[in-house]
Amino acid sequence: MKRALVVKAFAKINLGLRVIGPYRGGYHELETVMQQVSLADTVLFEPSTLGGWRFFCTDPELAGEDNLVCRAAALLEKRAGKATTPVRISLYKVIPSAAGLGGGSSDAAATLLGLNSYWDLQLGKEELLEMAAELGSDVPFCLGGGTALARGRGEIMADLPPLPFFWVVIALPRGVKISTADAYAAFDRTRSGEPSLDPLIEAIRIGDRSKIAAWLRGSFTNTLETAALTGLEPLVDLKKGLRVSGLAPVLSGSGPALFMLADSYPSASGIARTVQEEGGEAYLCWTEFKKEEWENV
Ligand code: C5P
Repeated sequence: MKRALVVKAFAKINLGLRVIGPYRGGYHELETVMQQVSLADTVLFEPSTLGGWRFFCTDPELAGEDNLVCRAAALLEKRAGKATTPVRISLYKVIPSAAGLGGGSSDAAATLLGLNSYWDLQLGKEELLEMAAELGSDVPFCLGGGTALARGRGEIMADLPPLPFFWVVIALPRGVKISTADAYAAFDRTRSGEPSLDPLIEAIRIGDRSKIAAWLRGSFTNTLETAALTGLEPLVDLKKGLRVSGLAPVLSGSGPALFMLADSYPSASGIARTVQEEGGEAYLCWTEFKKEEWENV
């Protein structure tokens, strides 16, 4: 009997995001610095007495066959080209969905890594990256995680040195979800200027905490922010409230999640309290290094 296998699916935040222009296939070309954080879903692979693979999810709204986990499993099964060991795949959901935190993409990446190992397919990094890009623009980053600069539609990746350790507080306005496609469509209508990510990339290369923090306090970190804030009162209010409290919340990806970095646990838990006082949901986590499962591929 095969042993069960557990793979963590970490969330990501975008420390900076610049939309450059139109890209092939109706996408947008972008440049973004992505950082994996410890907030995570869990994907469990267990022996099954039923044939093929079966999918279960703790969130009934995400339990359908269109879940990226199912799409990843189907893609890998096709690539395997041989009979695979029956497996029950359970997704324990923690990362808020449609929040700009890459939860679905990370679940798909964890499924590729988990099944590659569970089915003993021995696919290499290049093959997995190729399949990941087929599943979604953020999935290639989620395979390895850590700190990376993504280009193209998000699928072309260059590693950056690991970010120095920070506590991360994620702030979510209640009851707001944004689909990535809608965020980009809104961006096309609002179009704002482009931040240069160079100062951020340089700060990460030299590992300068204060310069990284200074970048995040700057007024322009994410080109999608104007679009995300348009018409979303709960997000506008939460951002305003946090700024009045002296904080500098930054939008992650296409939102609506905002985040703030902190140097210590007391400072992070103070920020989390402020988020709750402002009516938002707070998630306290920290920056993560590259995924071990990826290093071992
Ligand atoms: O790649 P993914 O499935 O995550 O993208 C979802 C949608 O977001 C795309 O269909 C597209 O409308 C939009 N998108 C984009 N440019 C990107 C990434 C996503 O326009 N770089």
